[in-house]
Amino acid sequence: MVTVVTSGKGGAGKSTISAGLARALAHRGKRVLLIDGDAGLRSLDVMLGIGGSAVHDLSDVLNGNCQPVHAVYPSPICPNVFVIPAPVELEQMPTPDDMVELCRNFAEYYDEIIIDCPAGIGRGFLTAVAAADNALVVTTPDMVCARDAQIVARLLEEKGIPSRLIVNRLRPHPIIKGKMPDVDEVIDTAGLQLIGVLPEDEMVSVANAYGKPLPSESYAAVCFANIAARLSGETVALAPLKKMQS
Ligand SMILES: Nc1ncnc2c1ncn2[C@@H]1O[C@H](COP(=O)(O)OP(=O)(O)O)[C@@H](O)[C@H]1O
Ligand SMILES: [Mg+2]
Repeated sequence: MVTVVTSGKGGAGKSTISAGLARALAHRGKRVLLIDGDAGLRSLDVMLGIGGSAVHDLSDVLNGNCQPVHAVYPSPICPNVFVIPAPVELEQMPTPDDMVELCRNFAEYYDEIIIDCPAGIGRGFLTAVAAADNALVVTTPDMVCARDAQIVARLLEEKGIPSRLIVNRLRPHPIIKGKMPDVDEVIDTAGLQLIGVLPEDEMVSVANAYGKPLPSESYAAVCFANIAARLSGETVALAPLKKMQS
């Protein structure tokens, strides 16, 4: 299955969720390929501990500069997760047709393909969603981001791609109580069915920055495991929000 992680807005947590979900699916025994579609702003290589050791990227595969397999890097921090880094230059981004062809070829070797989408709804977005069987739309708990999620959701619907919502950076006790929208308002604005939430958690940003796995007992890791289970068709209750504090 090919899943695209998108949001409209930058900084909503697309790369964080692509990486976390890939790890959670790998823990479920899947072989996962992560394609970094954010040309010019690659993140997944760092988040998955590959860092500067990547030589080839998505553009090399598509330009025939290397065998496809040579642009696929196994994550040293998570067995069964493999990453194709994003092109270094924006203009090296593949076309939608290239992406469809690439995913068709790689689908033979991986159980799950996750595509990390760039911000916006331009060319990079169109390429990232081209091969997707389904989409995860990420929003933070604010109305501007939720409205962008709604716009993206409509575009996906027009393309016939089923999508579900992830609310990221959720705080059980917002600093400005009563003045911030609650999860239900965010979901209503985005107009999508919720597949999961992810708490605001310093451990998430630290794990991202240093390319380290999240401690498996952290609430964020539990949330990722739940999202992976739901994506695989299981019914799992939402983790109680107030417990996410610790
Ligand atoms: N749930 C979270 N808790 C804490 N920090 C987060 C969380 N989600 C994302 N971040 C941080 O926010 C920043 C943007 O996230 P990122 O996944 O790169 O967004 P995007 O890919 O949508 O631009 C990163 O520094 C990341 O570590
Ligand atoms: Mg990103």
